[in-house]
Amino acid sequence: MPRLLLVWWSMTGGTQQLAEALAEGALEERGTEVVSLRADQAHADDVLAAQAFVFATPENLASMAGMMKDFFDRTYYPVLGRIDGLPYATLVCAGTDGAGAARQVARIATGWRLKEIAEPLIVVVGAQTPEQILAPKRIEVAQLERARELGHALGAGLSMGIW
Ligand SMILES: Cc1cc2nc3c(=O)[nH]c(=O)nc-3n(C[C@H](O)[C@H](O)[C@H](O)COP(=O)(O)O)c2cc1C
Repeated sequence: MPRLLLVWWSMTGGTQQLAEALAEGALEERGTEVVSLRADQAHADDVLAAQAFVFATPENLASMAGMMKDFFDRTYYPVLGRIDGLPYATLVCAGTDGAGAARQVARIATGWRLKEIAEPLIVVVGAQTPEQILAPKRIEVAQLERARELGHALGAGLSMGIW
């Protein structure tokens, strides 16, 4: 059964809720296995055991979260040349922007020669003040649905072998 690896990080819960919705969507498609790992728990072996990827990160300081960068730092060279052509998608939870984090993930995925199968899903939560940014996040149902749909599309494509 093809395996989708979902690697995520979250500080105030937004990315985590989106990642969970995405995983639910992918699991709606029978015939796809989903492995969801927080970035600090994900290792090169997990990458090598998967046939598709989702990288889900908050945007912090116009970049991907440091713990996502740590995941890529630890796994980039051990898997380079061994996952060429596999499909991936990116999910970013951001206060107001998200483009910087998405761009960084895309550069790394290009280095790995992965195939992007959807535009990055960027969910903006509208947090701007320090208080809003540090508060626990509650992602709107409509945004969770976007993540679920992306997961469903990935799962369907994988189980049908169309990537
Ligand atoms: C240190 C820090 C820096 C941030 N920088 C940005 C930023 O550059 N652009 C942006 O859109 N949001 C920024 N944010 C807001 C987060 O992206 C937002 O709070 C989001 O919900 C984080 O995802 P999480 O809830 O999964 O932790 C920043 C948050 C923190 C804590």
